[in-house]
Amino acid sequence: MRPTKSAGFPSNILSVNPEEFYVDVFEKYSQHLNPSLAKLMGFAGFGVEVFAEGSIIRDHEGREFIDCLGGYGTFTFGHRHPEIIEAVKNQLDNIALSGKAFFSANAANLAANLAAIAPGNLQYAFFSNSGTEAVEAALKMAKAVTGRQKIVSTEGSYHGKTIGALSTTGREKYRKRFEPLMPGVEFVPYGDSAAAAAAIDANTAAMIVEPIQGEGGIILPPDGYLASLRESCDRHGALLIFDEVQSGLGRAGYLFACDREGIAPDIMTLAKALGGGIMPIGATLGTPAIFESLYRENPLAHTSTFGGNPLACAAAIKALEILVRDDLAEKSRTRGDQMLAGFQRIQSQYPDIIAEVRGRGLMIGLEFAMDEVGELVVAQLLKRGVCVAYALNNPRVLRFEPPLVITAEQVDAVILAVEESISETAELLASLV
Ligand SMILES: Cc1ncc(COP(=O)(O)O)c(C=O)c1O
Repeated sequence: MRPTKSAGFPSNILSVNPEEFYVDVFEKYSQHLNPSLAKLMGFAGFGVEVFAEGSIIRDHEGREFIDCLGGYGTFTFGHRHPEIIEAVKNQLDNIALSGKAFFSANAANLAANLAAIAPGNLQYAFFSNSGTEAVEAALKMAKAVTGRQKIVSTEGSYHGKTIGALSTTGREKYRKRFEPLMPGVEFVPYGDSAAAAAAIDANTAAMIVEPIQGEGGIILPPDGYLASLRESCDRHGALLIFDEVQSGLGRAGYLFACDREGIAPDIMTLAKALGGGIMPIGATLGTPAIFESLYRENPLAHTSTFGGNPLACAAAIKALEILVRDDLAEKSRTRGDQMLAGFQRIQSQYPDIIAEVRGRGLMIGLEFAMDEVGELVVAQLLKRGVCVAYALNNPRVLRFEPPLVITAEQVDAVILAVEESISETAELLASLV
């Protein structure tokens, strides 16, 4: 198919030929965004998204998909939650982006509301625009406050791709070409309390860890892991950072994944779901001691022009209200249990193909017994109206993170689609031997 040369910006998908529209967008991705990614997405069968609501995404051909990728954990509240849209629209009628010189009521209210639900003594918030920025702020806080350089992180972790966050991201493939990165980072196996205890010492500024590894392949640590990290950090005066960018805000069946163990960090990072699926926002929460120390000599020691802007904060304030009011953490547990049980049944039928199914709440991973099956199953699920992706650090694992508002019927539809896709894969594999 020859791509069109149209430079138009179709405002109404119905007025253009869907195929031409797709080719035009695909071609622009190839020539102006990212040629390799365009190929990968095209191969998997992804179209152009033109509409989304609740748990459904509609593409340029009018095909509907249950969104089990959920923007890598962003669409906790579903797509275009009407109350969050309304909050942002109302905000637009007054102040959009902050002048920064004046006090912002939205930033103040959001920080106070986060402090009210956060574990432990996380009384302060620094706002940014993404997860990686939230991690950058956390790392800077840890270094400034302790006066130490060493950061302990975990293998298989994902903390973002800006230089600081990337330095703590536990996958060689992403780090290698950008070395030398931030010095002083030591990696230990995830879930291994003894290894962490051995690495955390008097030179350690902080240990950064996801309470559940997302991109590592939905890895649940053993019970007592977070408590043991807390103990090791306290013993040496090191800070404990929980990166809840993906696992936080109801995703793992608790307001924060660390709530399950009742262990509070000194610093916590949030992003993704915080903007209610409407606005981008990141947050780095910390204790009074940390924020007082960071900003004592210089109130502008760490800042962001767009961070904490009124629009993003309006979305986040409404999102937190809905999270608590509608008990989305409980919904996550119920729907998560339903999905997990369905996947476990399929796994017992196809143990040669599915090695393991695991998860907590609606943070579920399905691990294949062999490489290369993941891509195939993603394409098959897409064909059956379910959108998923594999974990960035572990392509053997398909990760399911649908909106927490997904219905029981939609979960059943996903289970059926997975069953059919695995069955087709089994037939395909059998025909190859
Ligand atoms: C645990 C965790 N931390 C940080 C990030 C980086 O967030 P962002 O992509 O918004 O920069 C991610 C993204 O997937 C994540 O899962």
